[in-house]
Amino acid sequence: MCVSVDNASEECDPEWMDAEDPLFVLYTSGSTGKPKGVLHTIAGYLLYTSLTFKYVFDHHQDDVYWCTADIGWITGHSYITYGPLANGATSVLFEGIPVYPHVGRFWEIIEKYRVSKFYTAPTAIRLLMKYGIEPLQKYDLSSLRVLGTVGEPINPEAWMWYHDAVGQGRCPVVDTFWQTETGGHVLTPLPAATPLKPGSATLPFFGVLPIILNEHGEELEGEAEGYLVFKKPWPGIMRGVYGNQECFENTYFKKFPGFYVTGDGCRRDKDGYYWITGRIDDMLNVSGHLLSTAEVEAALTEHSAVAEAAVVSRPHIVKGECLYCFVTLKDFREFNHSLMDELKRKVREKIGPIATPDFIQNAPGLPKTRSGKIMRRVLRQIARNEKDLGDLSTLADPKVVEVLLSQRCEAAA
Ligand code: WT7
Repeated sequence: MCVSVDNASEECDPEWMDAEDPLFVLYTSGSTGKPKGVLHTIAGYLLYTSLTFKYVFDHHQDDVYWCTADIGWITGHSYITYGPLANGATSVLFEGIPVYPHVGRFWEIIEKYRVSKFYTAPTAIRLLMKYGIEPLQKYDLSSLRVLGTVGEPINPEAWMWYHDAVGQGRCPVVDTFWQTETGGHVLTPLPAATPLKPGSATLPFFGVLPIILNEHGEELEGEAEGYLVFKKPWPGIMRGVYGNQECFENTYFKKFPGFYVTGDGCRRDKDGYYWITGRIDDMLNVSGHLLSTAEVEAALTEHSAVAEAAVVSRPHIVKGECLYCFVTLKDFREFNHSLMDELKRKVREKIGPIATPDFIQNAPGLPKTRSGKIMRRVLRQIARNEKDLGDLSTLADPKVVEVLLSQRCEAAA
C-alpha cells in the first residue's frame, strides 16, 4: 500500500511492548575470540540509563549536554540516545574527531553551544593534553559544570589536566566505570556529593553491590585487591547473550557462582573507594575499546603466510594500551615490510581500524609450556621491555625467549 504524506495520519500509536522484550543487541569482544551479542531489554535498561544520566551528570533542564562517543557503541546508546532523550535533555550531536580541522575543535564546540556537561574518553584527553593549554585558552569554557570520563582507567595526570585546565578547577570529574553488559554506570561519583580521588571511579551507584573476591572466590573485606564482581543485579544489567544462553552463563556466572563477573581487577582502598586495575582476562583496552587478543590472533592467522600468532597488550601514551603481535611464519615465508602492511590490513578488515597493531614482531618460535600453552605473561614482559622475566622453568624451550628479546620492536611498525 502506498500512502502519501498529505493523507497520512498525524498520529503514530506506540507499539506496546513487554518490559522484558528485547530492546537491542550490541556485540562486544569475547575473551575466546568470538564476539558476544549483549542483549538489553526495554524497561530496565531505559530506567537505568535515564536515572544514571540524571544523577551522574546532575542533569537540569537548562543544561547543554555533550557526549563525544560514537552512537554505535554502548556509550552512545546509553548516554547519547536513551539516557538524555528520556530526560528531555538538550544535547550536542557530534560526528568527527577531536583534532580536525584543528586541535581546539572540542573547546570551540563547547563555547559555541555553551555546553555545561561534557563526557569523553581518557584517550581523547591524553591526545589533547599533548597540545598544551593554548588551544584551550582561545575559547570560553565558563559554561562547563560537570566533566565525565568513560571507557578505560584514567591516569591521575590526565585527570588533573582535565580537572584543572579544561574544568578550570571548578568542575567535578565523574570517572564512570561500566560495561556494555552493565547497560549504565555501576561505579561512579555523583558530582559535588562524592569527594573525588583522581584515577578512582569512587563508589557504587544506588543499588549496585560490588564485591572483591580472591582467586578462591572468597569475599574480601576492607582494603583489598582482586576480582571485581557484583552480588546483586540492577535494572540495566544485560539479560543474555543473544541466541546463546550457555555462553551467557559460562562467561559471567561460572567462575564465581552467585556473582556477576566483570573481568576486571580492582582494588578497594581504606576509604572504601574502588580503583579499577585493568582486565584480568585476555582482553585489552585500546582507546576505550575492548578487544580480545584471541580475536586479533584469529585475524592474523587467516593470512596465508602466518603459522601462529600471539598478541599481547603494551602500554601506549595516548591509546592507553596498544597491540603488540608476535607472528610465526610458515616455512620459506619472508618477514618484511610489505607482509607487515598486509597483516595490518587484514586486522583492520576483520575487526576494524581501532584494532590496527602498533607492533608486529617476527617470532621464529613462541614461548610455550611443555603442554603447548603459550606463556603470554612472558610475551607481555618482552613487549614491555621488562628486564626480569621471572620463572621460565616451565618453558619447553627457554632459548626462544632469547631470540625474541634480541629482536624486540623498539619503535611502532
Ligand atoms: C570495559 C568495558 C563503559 C562503556 C564503554 C566501554 C573498561 C570502562 C572504565 C573506567 C576503568 C573502565 C573496563 C570494562 N572501563 N570504563 N571508568 N575505569 N576501566 O564498554 O567496551 O564494554 O568495555 O572497559 O575494563 O570492563 P566496553
